[in-house]
Amino acid sequence: RFTPTPDDRFTFGLWTVGWQGRDPFGDATRAPIDPVESVRRLAELGAYGVTFHDDDLIPFGSTETEREGTVKRFRQALDAAGLVVPMATTNLFTHPVFKDGAFTANDRDVRRYALRKTLRNIDLAVELGATTYVAWGGREGSESGAAKDVRVALDRMKEAFDLLGDHVTEQGYDLRFAIEPKPNEPRGDILLPTIGHALAFIERLERPELVGVNPETGHEQMAGLNFPHGIAQALWAGKLFHIDLNGQSGIKYDQDLRFGAGDLRQAFWLVDLLETGGYAGPRHFDFKPPRTEDLDGVWASAAGCMRNYLILKERAAAFRADPAVREALRASRLDELARPTAQDGVAGLLADRSAFEEFDVDAAAERGMAFEVLDQLAMDHLLGVR
Ligand code: GCO
Ligand code: MN
Ligand code: MN
Ligand code: MN
Repeated sequence: RFTPTPDDRFTFGLWTVGWQGRDPFGDATRAPIDPVESVRRLAELGAYGVTFHDDDLIPFGSTETEREGTVKRFRQALDAAGLVVPMATTNLFTHPVFKDGAFTANDRDVRRYALRKTLRNIDLAVELGATTYVAWGGREGSESGAAKDVRVALDRMKEAFDLLGDHVTEQGYDLRFAIEPKPNEPRGDILLPTIGHALAFIERLERPELVGVNPETGHEQMAGLNFPHGIAQALWAGKLFHIDLNGQSGIKYDQDLRFGAGDLRQAFWLVDLLETGGYAGPRHFDFKPPRTEDLDGVWASAAGCMRNYLILKERAAAFRADPAVREALRASRLDELARPTAQDGVAGLLADRSAFEEFDVDAAAERGMAFEVLDQLAMDHLLGVR
């Protein structure tokens, strides 16, 4: 029970378990982990796949020969462990050259370099079987007003995604892009800060069908937003191409806690939504085992992400199957919400005196919504007492 298998489609970034614990105030607390070791350990824990930034796998500055050797070794490790690579991404934030951004750096040479770095890793991603390419623009932003002309920077951002779309189309790749929003950190303010900003941006691209979102739990919560609501809108728009699951306790620095830590109630509603809302992609964890942990703690933290997901999946299913919940949902008129409001059209609506002239507003205002009973049932299921 609660033991993950590859059928659960749990995936992890190499940079998650591989995080050495370096933060703005302190040095690394852990040694690097060989990606081959991460592949082996994650497979043992029941994962389905791994994801990577170019530089997680091939250290920045490697020669062409080193690169080939590393990729070969990684591929062998994947085959031996039976893991897949459903997603890859580009590191456009660690090297100092990206201090003012990548696709939207003011410096044009940096933008051209960033695009080349991305194109190169897209080719590798496809070679390794990835069908999603994530773009997190952590350095695209500013700390001060005049430093970035945001409208012009968005022109450059669009130019970048249009060009990447040209490449995958010309190459005939089966690859779609997923933009990952974040409000701030490492930049003071980051462009495309929330799911909503990203969704609006995508519609302005030349090939909007190639681009969706990769929302991360903590990033929306850093902005005080309701993550399940954001995910619901992404699903509604047909744009939930990928997801970064983790934990966050309210509006503060990006905590990247293991999934299930932080806001547990939002985690419950999120799993309920993912399991019933038509999301078929990997359940991808993007977390950081706290720097207090040794290697045993790292693997315990990774196992905890999957275990918490499976526990919440069971709790959410029990909630949905409970006859008392079904009754409570009716009492809260969720079935009525599902009915179109005015199928009779404007003419029918205007002719319907019961909708306005004869409508008893006071009586309607008095009807309770019974949400508290419904929410307590959810709480009882979440806490495992029902
Ligand atoms: C963060 C970001 C990063 C990106 C990842 C993909 O926590 O700020 O999520 O972890 O997801 O680097 O580029
Ligand atoms: Mn994060
Ligand atoms: Mn992420
Ligand atoms: Mn992250």
